[in-house]
Amino acid sequence: MSVKIGNHIDLGEFPLLLAPMEDVSDPPFRFVCKQNGVDMMYTEFISSEGLIRAAAKSRQKLDIFEYERPIGIQIFGSDIDTMREATVIASQVGPDLIDINYGCPVKNVACRGAGASLLQDIDKMTAMTKAVVEATHLPVTVKTRLGWDDNTKNVYEVAERLQDVGIQALSIHGRTRSQLYKGQADWHLIREVKRNPRIRIPIFGNGDVDSVEKAAAWRMEYEVDGIMIGRASIGYPWIFREIKHFFRTGEYLSGPTIAERIAVCRTHLEKSVAWKGEKTGIFEMRRHYANYFKGIPHFKEYRMKLVSLNDIADIHAVLDEINELFEPEVA
Ligand SMILES: Cc1cc2nc3c(=O)[nH]c(=O)nc-3n(C[C@H](O)[C@H](O)[C@H](O)COP(=O)(O)O)c2cc1C
Repeated sequence: MSVKIGNHIDLGEFPLLLAPMEDVSDPPFRFVCKQNGVDMMYTEFISSEGLIRAAAKSRQKLDIFEYERPIGIQIFGSDIDTMREATVIASQVGPDLIDINYGCPVKNVACRGAGASLLQDIDKMTAMTKAVVEATHLPVTVKTRLGWDDNTKNVYEVAERLQDVGIQALSIHGRTRSQLYKGQADWHLIREVKRNPRIRIPIFGNGDVDSVEKAAAWRMEYEVDGIMIGRASIGYPWIFREIKHFFRTGEYLSGPTIAERIAVCRTHLEKSVAWKGEKTGIFEMRRHYANYFKGIPHFKEYRMKLVSLNDIADIHAVLDEINELFEPEVA
């Protein structure tokens, strides 16, 4: 059965979603995920205060492209009026939906009283969500965690209350705020939410899915409507096509060749430069190389080169070198 968000977004059967990730899920990275079959993506979280101050950094994060659809813009904030205004601004760029972040565990200035903090005040969270829903014609979705800590795992109640004020899908990261990213994600409570007979909206499971096997096992075990993947896709956007292929055929797709890794890395680099300009594009790409070539023997030496070069032609030359060395028959 096809999973739908609102009346217009049809995600097909058992969609895979790219998790919003600060400094990662930007347009260049989203491009390579889309090439690999992801069904739905989100921007990284955007500060509602930054948006209404028209801060350049926040505004740039609103950049979305036609080929990315369906795409959601994720916003966060601690003040209801600010969130309402930010919703209006974000809706004007024409995403397919607005997502609210109630999961960010960070305590810095931007996140104070925002993100997962709202899990400590469900009344305010509900009022904020209602304000966002009323401020836009687009569907509103939410991403959150199991609760604040081990003693207050309140996502069951959160799901009901947010559905009641009009959210159209809920993604749940199977950790509490206190856990940050430690320990293992626990999806039992996500299944409880999904089994709640009152819940009608799609429930997406998130946390620690990093292989085809796990995706297949957790799909069955936890009964979710789709899976959201974050860290495992960094430097490995192929995870989407591999999982989708398995669900379609029951067979494992072999992993990417070196030539493919290089090709996708080049595309990512080119998109990065096109979107951010040469200097920043090259600089921000540096954090991705190690991930693209994980597990390749003696890659360190090449990585050192890749992260020190400032000229795009030189970087392509090193990528050529890697290709010739590790996959001579393809080069
Ligand atoms: C580098 C990084 C940045 C993140 N930024 C965001 C964000 O902007 N918004 C959000 O809702 N979650 C953010 N998260 C959390 C992820 O969306 C996701 O919930 C978490 O990583 C667990 O999923 P995973 O195990 O598949 O990575 C971030 C996670 C990482 C690792």
